[in-house]
Amino acid sequence: MDSIGSSGLRQGEETLSCSEEGLPGPSDSSELVQECLQQFKVTRAQLQQIQASLLGSMEQALRGQASPAPAVRMLPTYVGSTPHGTEQGDFVVLELGATGASLRVLWVTLTGIEGHRVEPRSQEFVIPQEVMLGAGQQSTLISWTKGFRCSGVEGQDVVQLLRDAIRRQGAYNIDVVAVVNDTVGTMMGCEPGVRPCEVGLVVDTGTNACYMEEARHVAVLDEDRGRVCVSVEWGSFSDDGALGPVLTTFDHTLDHESLNPGAQRFEKMIGGLYLGELVRLVLAHLARCGVLFGGCTSPALLSQGSILLEHVAEMEDPSTGAARVHAILQDLGLSPGASDVELVQHVCAAVCTRAAQLCAAALAAVLSCLQHSREQQTLQVAVATGGRVCERHPRFCSVLQGTVMLLAPECDVSLIPSVDGGGRGVAMVTAVAARLAAHRRLLEETLAPFRLNHDQLAAVQAQMRKAMAKGLRGEASSLRMLPTFVRATPDGSERGDFLALDLGGTNFRVLLVRVTTGVQITSEIYSIPETVAQGSGQQLFDHIVDCIVDFQQKQGLSGQSLPLGFTFSFPCRQLGLDQGILLNWTKGFKASDCEGQDVVSLLREAITRRQAVELNVVAIVNDTVGTMMSCGYEDPRCEIGLIVGTGTNACYMEELRNVAGVPGDSGRMCINMEWGAFGDDGSLAMLSTRFDASVDQASINPGKQRFEKMISGMYLGEIVRHILLHLTSLGVLFRGQQIQRLQTRDIFKTKFLSEIESDSLALRQVRAILEDLGLPLTSDDALMVLEVCQAVSQRAAQLCGAGVAAVVEKIRENRGLEELAVSVGVDGTLYKLHPRFSSLVAATVRELAPRCVVTFLQSEDGSGKGAALVTAVACRLAQLTRV
Ligand code: BG6
Ligand code: GLC
Repeated sequence: MDSIGSSGLRQGEETLSCSEEGLPGPSDSSELVQECLQQFKVTRAQLQQIQASLLGSMEQALRGQASPAPAVRMLPTYVGSTPHGTEQGDFVVLELGATGASLRVLWVTLTGIEGHRVEPRSQEFVIPQEVMLGAGQQSTLISWTKGFRCSGVEGQDVVQLLRDAIRRQGAYNIDVVAVVNDTVGTMMGCEPGVRPCEVGLVVDTGTNACYMEEARHVAVLDEDRGRVCVSVEWGSFSDDGALGPVLTTFDHTLDHESLNPGAQRFEKMIGGLYLGELVRLVLAHLARCGVLFGGCTSPALLSQGSILLEHVAEMEDPSTGAARVHAILQDLGLSPGASDVELVQHVCAAVCTRAAQLCAAALAAVLSCLQHSREQQTLQVAVATGGRVCERHPRFCSVLQGTVMLLAPECDVSLIPSVDGGGRGVAMVTAVAARLAAHRRLLEETLAPFRLNHDQLAAVQAQMRKAMAKGLRGEASSLRMLPTFVRATPDGSERGDFLALDLGGTNFRVLLVRVTTGVQITSEIYSIPETVAQGSGQQLFDHIVDCIVDFQQKQGLSGQSLPLGFTFSFPCRQLGLDQGILLNWTKGFKASDCEGQDVVSLLREAITRRQAVELNVVAIVNDTVGTMMSCGYEDPRCEIGLIVGTGTNACYMEELRNVAGVPGDSGRMCINMEWGAFGDDGSLAMLSTRFDASVDQASINPGKQRFEKMISGMYLGEIVRHILLHLTSLGVLFRGQQIQRLQTRDIFKTKFLSEIESDSLALRQVRAILEDLGLPLTSDDALMVLEVCQAVSQRAAQLCGAGVAAVVEKIRENRGLEELAVSVGVDGTLYKLHPRFSSLVAATVRELAPRCVVTFLQSEDGSGKGAALVTAVACRLAQLTRV
């Protein structure tokens, strides 16, 4: 019987066989040694070539390119996220060892508390009784890890068998949840730290790595969002061009004598199964050449598999010392001399250093791939390492790290040894999957009220129609339907220089508009500080006049009394073109003593106070009207004005006969709908969410402008912020940490929605914006924030579309037409900057008003031009009546 020595080697039966050709002289032997060890030296250029070739194969495999067949497989796993650290629960993990001979059962408890780890309990072969769940315990999830190249199909079958077996037993309440590659388990088991752990590296019997790739780069998935863990399967890498120059005669022999000649060439230079064998082949060669062991070999030295990874690791370990090397060699039936011990250590070092360097080239390729797909200049990442080579070899990881730094200098990598093999990581895979599913459910529940269906939108359209009719008849309605006294669009014969003011949007502007055969505009933007917008009315109007005086001076217009058109973007009851009673402030304005006053008089009084100027205020127009007129100058079919900016509103040409309170039955008049107030009578209550209620309550006009608060730029960012706060309180976002800055009102600007949604795939903007706000963001968070923004802006655009559909249908019916072709002049930052808003509005209008062909024209010159044109028309008409 063989006896197994303490080092695992056979003892006793070996007999030495020695070279009969005489031993080489000292200089010959040193040459032979050099020649042998030199073969294992890999240059930086060779490593770079392997890195580049591997990267090329990885990208080719990701793209799904079949021919020529890529040298690595890049298998997507169904792991879509890395741990947050909040995962908790009890999990059973079955680990089938590399040989399939041993089954380890682990009971893993995740506490969900940072830094608080419970050691997993494990047992070989026997399923412990505590797996049986008692009353009150949650269902337990089982995960399955195969130590070695687990194939998906086999895995599925095994899972089914396991499920059947568990069902037959009847006594257990266990669900089989995941089949996990060991690299994935290693990555997932990494404790969440400062940098994200998004790469798992295993160097055990074989070698492989996985990393988190952007799902959109993985062609086979057909998925454009989120991330997925990809198993590289780099062991099979075998590019002759790149690997050929580093293959030694020993590699060829090893491959030739292996069970799978020609396959897994890369793995055969790195994996623990092969390192001992390479050392053995070199030692046997040197012994045969007479350089080692006095030219003697032993049967053990000549037998495949007699030197194991553990021996190599021990022989190289300076702490175990030469005596241990001696003992190991003796166990092999050899009689080493003092110089033999040193040389054997050199051989071990050469073989293992090369392995670590090759592994580093492969890891560098993965890091480059990660960096490319994240489009980042520099990458900070943690790599979880596992497997016996990483764990037991004294220098493997330090050589690996040093070489990676040389090959991928732009990546800042820290290697984190896996704590308890793959077990915890596999439990984590199921825990993360459970967390993602729970979070998705909560996200869907939260966003469900924002997803409006056709019937809901049609109901909004119908209610809007009712409210329009009531408002026009002068009955109580949330739509005021204010007559504007604008009856005609310009006919092109208007001429002259006009001043215009544009107050109520993002910018306050003063403009000089020259109308000849075309229109020329010179303008200046002035700020209205919040203290002025919310101070006294006198202060506000004095400030406006100051700005006009400044503008006149700059333009050399001082002393001239040009006709002035005033775009005043607030609800006014007009008694004529130049008389408008401010009904109430909207948006951020709240200047005192203005509501109920004629705005033109307030302006004239301020002019009188300033004495130095003379101004001739001819017309006051809403921004919707200014926009309609401005676009109408280019396209006579433009009979609707729409604003989706800080606020939202629309105007359109209504038949005079339908407008109560304005004399005359023929012709048309432009009606300022003030649709921002739609729903202030409670008619939108069924669509209002808790977030709308919070935004409304915190605004300066609670209960007012309910439609506007669901649509316009002043409020969408706030709605998103309230949803993010809610999701954080549910633990769905930002790992459930309440973040002070998110409590700050208006911190999430509506322009962020436009920026975030313009970049829906790479999510770079989401990250940049939220990191700027000091919000700690994971990639799952980024995706969820994007989905929140999309839900909020989509609802806004659809509600706006329902409003436009109501207006165009009204015009069509007014005119008794089967079909109506009409244009809408549009302005406002939200409409103009948001990537999908305009197309969503148009799509909703097509759906709800199929008999109208509606063209949307974006106003390029702002509504000041329209105000000047209204003034010009008024001046033309006044001249006509004077003649
Ligand atoms: C401008 C118009 O272009 O758009 C203003 O000139 C209008 O009259 C404004 O009020 C609306 O958009 P916002 O985003 O500035 O409120
Ligand atoms: C607010 C104003 C309205 C204006 C709209 C767009 O709703 O009340 O008059 O047209 O904002 O600026």
